[in-house]
Amino acid sequence: MIAITREVSRSIIHCELTHLERRPIDIQRARAQHAEYEAALKHLGLAVLSLPEEPSLADSVFVEDTALVLDECAIILRPGADSRKPETESIAKALSPYRKLFTIQAPARVDGGDILRVGRQVYIGLSTRSDTNAAEQIQDFLQPYSYEVQVVRVTGCLHLKSAVTQAAEDTLLINPAWVDPGNFAGMKFIESDPSEAYAANALWLGDSVLYPKAFPRTRKKLMDAGIKITDVDADELAKAEGALTCCSLLLRE
Ligand code: GLY
Repeated sequence: MIAITREVSRSIIHCELTHLERRPIDIQRARAQHAEYEAALKHLGLAVLSLPEEPSLADSVFVEDTALVLDECAIILRPGADSRKPETESIAKALSPYRKLFTIQAPARVDGGDILRVGRQVYIGLSTRSDTNAAEQIQDFLQPYSYEVQVVRVTGCLHLKSAVTQAAEDTLLINPAWVDPGNFAGMKFIESDPSEAYAANALWLGDSVLYPKAFPRTRKKLMDAGIKITDVDADELAKAEGALTCCSLLLRE
């Protein structure tokens, strides 16, 4: 498995913010946490392809929003925020040796944070960043590969994956205040602790998850469910409204 990542931009203090107040970001601390994230992935056996910094693209560390990568192909997305649209160019270059590429066409908009794939099911969150036009294009691209695309309404948070992520083969970690569990037929659920609104974002790696240290109550629920956890600090990156899944694109070699 390869994880594509990108160094934290020196301009991250100018990042997009939708549901958070702007707070000072310590760039050195953000970079140290990002390095810890990459080290954890390497420790778990992934090869990390770390792309160079994009000094003028404030949110470019959050590579997840630029592409949907599947075993059969990859789709270069069209991020909802105008400041983020140029982030896709270098990602398309990085992915082209590995996958046949499709590209979302304007005026459709979709962030990768709004796309949750579970097996052959692809859920697309309708948020302030992503629309039905993009979901229809994704459905067309994936039609030959037997994926089922389903749109899901999201409220109160930035992305679908702020509200729900996969924590095990058959289990979703979910904040039901932001997305209705009824959308995800056949899955088991672990609900994030109500006092930890941002705790539903875990990075699932097949037999364990990477999980932020900031959410001890939800962490205990994951542990109690028998889920193996690698802890990382990500609170400085979280000030830029980014979570753990946002910081990588995972692909099978
Ligand atoms: N700062 C992350 C985003 O808004 O896209």
